[in-house]
Amino acid sequence: MTLALVTGGAGFIGSNMIRFLLEKGQQVRVLDNFETGKRENLAEIADQIEVVEGDIRDQEAVKRSVDSVEVVYHLAALGSVPRSIKEPRTTHDVNVTGMLNVLESCRAAQVKRLVFASSSSIYGDSDVLPQHEGLLIAPISPYGASKAIGEIYNKAYYATYGLQTISLRYYNVFGPRQDPTSQYAAAIPLFVSALMRNTPPTIFDDGEQTRGFTFIENVMNANWKAANAPETHGEAINISTASAVSVNTVVNTIKELLGKDIAPNYAPPREGDIKHSLADVSLAKKVIGYEPTVTFDQGIRRAIDWYKENLG
Ligand SMILES: NC(=O)c1ccc[n+]([C@@H]2O[C@H](COP(=O)([O-])OP(=O)(O)OC[C@H]3O[C@@H](n4cnc5c(N)ncnc54)[C@H](O)[C@@H]3O)[C@@H](O)[C@H]2O)c1
Repeated sequence: MTLALVTGGAGFIGSNMIRFLLEKGQQVRVLDNFETGKRENLAEIADQIEVVEGDIRDQEAVKRSVDSVEVVYHLAALGSVPRSIKEPRTTHDVNVTGMLNVLESCRAAQVKRLVFASSSSIYGDSDVLPQHEGLLIAPISPYGASKAIGEIYNKAYYATYGLQTISLRYYNVFGPRQDPTSQYAAAIPLFVSALMRNTPPTIFDDGEQTRGFTFIENVMNANWKAANAPETHGEAINISTASAVSVNTVVNTIKELLGKDIAPNYAPPREGDIKHSLADVSLAKKVIGYEPTVTFDQGIRRAIDWYKENLG
């Protein structure tokens, strides 16, 4: 049976990915320091997984958790742009030094494949749409920079040591278990929780900014395909849906699904935020056979059903 390590497994994407891997019959180990992840995300599967509580900044902890592992899904990171602007060094330590620790441990343990969670933020405020992988890497936040460096290390470790790596540039992922309560929560869970409490959601900027909001199931499929492609060579590929929607449309859709008629508040644009993001996913199809299977409309319905059941 394949043993997979999910770093950041207590987080939103990680805890969904673990369930996906268990369904595929894999053995799963988690490395997480519970900085933004939650124990309750793992509670109902606790007896099916091994949890190592530790920090990716600690090389020894990473080394221990990589032991006997075939595939590493490296998802642990500080994922917030605003937090990275406030605390660039902490973001660097976790996202870059932590990544280097993971690469070093994978190399030493001869791990077969490392799948790294990169981000569309590496493109910065590109005015070319849809964004394709031939564009310049031009992040406009320390978070974006940290992900770009992670990708470069991934390529270099393939070139230098033959470690099979791949970087997946996720675009605004949403779905069950995405935390609305954290100080740095993402837009969709914040909108949902505000509306469920009958309070106005806050939209930064005029709401006409667009994003390739991507339902979590697409990301799980992409991770799986990246782990199981015959070979990888440090490629960096976009993982998203094929179309973008505006933030105003997102809020209107959530209002409709929750049956709430509450007007949003508008606030000034946030530092580090980009105006539009939309991915060209043709390279992902070529490299790992990825195609999005769940649209925004289908995904948001499933996410809202989950929040209705779980947010009370
Ligand atoms: N959610 C998105 O839209 C999105 C988009 C692009 C990229 N990503 C990337 O995907 C990955 C997962 O994101 P997520 O949305 O699930 O975020 P999340 O915050 O829910 O999960 C991150 C996990 O990493 C853990 N972690 C943080 N610092 C750690 C450390 N020093 N040592 C060990 N564990 C640590 C956290 O406790 C948490 O469980 C991240 O790398 C993020 O940058 C996410």
